[in-house]
Amino acid sequence: MISAKWLVLWSLWAARLARQPTAPLRVSGGRVRGSVAHDGSHAAYLGIPYATLTHGNRFQAPGPEPKWEGIFDGVEENARCLQRLDIRGNIFIGQQDCLTLNVYTPLNASPDAHLPVMVFIHGGAFVEGSGSPGLYGPKYITSKGVILITINYRLNAQGFLCLRVKEAPGNAGIKDQVAALRWIQKNIRVFGGDPGRVTLFGESAGASSVSHHLLSHMSKGLFHRAIMQSGSALAPWGHQVGPVKVAASLAKVKGHTIEDPHELYKLFTSMSELEILTPRIPRELGGTIMSEMLVSPCVEKVIDGVEPFLTEDPYTLLAKGEFTKMPIMIGTNDEEGYFLASYENTTTLSKMNFERAMPVNLEFPTERERSKEACRIKEMYMGNDTISKESLVKLSKFHGEPFFVYPAVAETELVLKNSDQPVYNYVFKYDGRKNIAKWYAGFSGLPGAAHGDELFYLFEQHNVPNMFEWRMMDTITTLWTNFAKYGDPTPETTELLPVKWYPTNRTSPQAFVIDRDFSTTPLWSDSLKYWHEIYTKYRKKHRNDG
Ligand SMILES: *[C@@H]1O[C@H](CO)[C@@H](O)[C@H](O)[C@H]1NC(C)=O
Ligand SMILES: *[C@@H]1O[C@H](CO)[C@@H](O)[C@H](O)[C@H]1NC(C)=O
Ligand SMILES: *[C@@H]1O[C@H](CO)[C@@H](O)[C@H](O)[C@H]1NC(C)=O
Repeated sequence: MISAKWLVLWSLWAARLARQPTAPLRVSGGRVRGSVAHDGSHAAYLGIPYATLTHGNRFQAPGPEPKWEGIFDGVEENARCLQRLDIRGNIFIGQQDCLTLNVYTPLNASPDAHLPVMVFIHGGAFVEGSGSPGLYGPKYITSKGVILITINYRLNAQGFLCLRVKEAPGNAGIKDQVAALRWIQKNIRVFGGDPGRVTLFGESAGASSVSHHLLSHMSKGLFHRAIMQSGSALAPWGHQVGPVKVAASLAKVKGHTIEDPHELYKLFTSMSELEILTPRIPRELGGTIMSEMLVSPCVEKVIDGVEPFLTEDPYTLLAKGEFTKMPIMIGTNDEEGYFLASYENTTTLSKMNFERAMPVNLEFPTERERSKEACRIKEMYMGNDTISKESLVKLSKFHGEPFFVYPAVAETELVLKNSDQPVYNYVFKYDGRKNIAKWYAGFSGLPGAAHGDELFYLFEQHNVPNMFEWRMMDTITTLWTNFAKYGDPTPETTELLPVKWYPTNRTSPQAFVIDRDFSTTPLWSDSLKYWHEIYTKYRKKHRNDG
């Protein structure tokens, strides 16, 4: 959930030097030419359109890739999907026509190289972000002999308005991602990639997306390994439980009291692309920033003539074992909550109470039970402290554990129960000079890694110095690319990776700790066990009518 404002600043600062063009390649839409990186480390083919949007498929799956004459110059990263510049701001960036992807290859990869492919889905709470090389630069990944692809997909109501009617069935943004994966199957050979060895990875909303792709028939066969960094389809913000109600609340902000999905569709389709982004549902009184995150994938209705992405809820599918079995890597950072807690201010803190801030995918039969559980949660995290700026570090565990850590551990548990493919769990704890998210959130000086911090070690950024921390960058990119190559992050021990990372098992579930030294830690802490108890009793049941 790295703010888009940052990303734009970086893109602006990015050097715009003359680049050496690559030889053109032929993809399904036409010919495309990329450029060689200044330092000669890789070739980049930027902004390739993989699907089309017209007024006709607004809120729906995208159309096929466009065709063009001549040579498409993939030298500018010139597209991002429409979004507010900041969760709080009212400035908009991006364009409607945004379904593009960036392909980065090791230099001179020949078409018969059959290199493993890693496809990254960016985070940003399903409302912001892009696959921009400003934040997701490829160099450390391509240098390991892997092709990296980053993608854009529709955001916010444009991508995730879910009315369960033919004209707005839901999941348009995630169907964009499927279209990108299909494009990759069709075209990656030309770049030297192996369409049979595709690893899908993502962070935050991107990880929740990956988790959803494991559950969908639509995505089956389009990827073969999955990495989920700080996100899951089980996260309260990662999947909408009441999408029509969310749409009704958006309409309400615009001054319309409508609940009927067809009427809602009429309203939304009459709005301009920017107008759709302007209503912001006020957070529930007493909630945290997490209760503002309402837009995400949903369960669709079966509708004649519409190919659905998902027709059952993630928890049920995982519990029944109805997901695509493959090697999985899933983990979180040890201080996820820092980044999110930094969005609270003295006003929101003074109004916050645990009862109203409980995750939205819990449902309590009585207010009394809600209070009782909220009270125990408050004691667990705050002890006798009251909520204030001074106790924000304690409170931040509440922004982190139920929203990121527990969902990942719960998904692990269900996958282990139903799949014999390896599951590699990790906790990223490293505290170095590139924990930019933690620094941005104002928590530098405290140990641990905040939400998003690992990204700065995996990718190169345009204006974060890269001379530091080469060892951790080498470590994490080696673990990730090993997984993409072999389905195993440590196929052998080396000087860099002296410890073997074993898959998690049910008898003694452990996570691999990524820090200065490697170690393992039990997957379940006492507080996670407590969340498990709560979810076992109160997990909200899926209903197809809200
Ligand atoms: C605090 O955050 C709330 C909720 O986002 C916002 O409406 C309010 O203006 C902020 N207040 C201050 C003092 O920054
Ligand atoms: C909270 O206060 C009560 C009463 O003063 C005390 O018994 C209890 O030990 C305190 N709990 C913690 C975690 O400090
Ligand atoms: C399960 O994992 C633990 C910790 O990695 C390991 O010590 C143990 O041998 C494993 N058990 C099985 C049955 O694989």
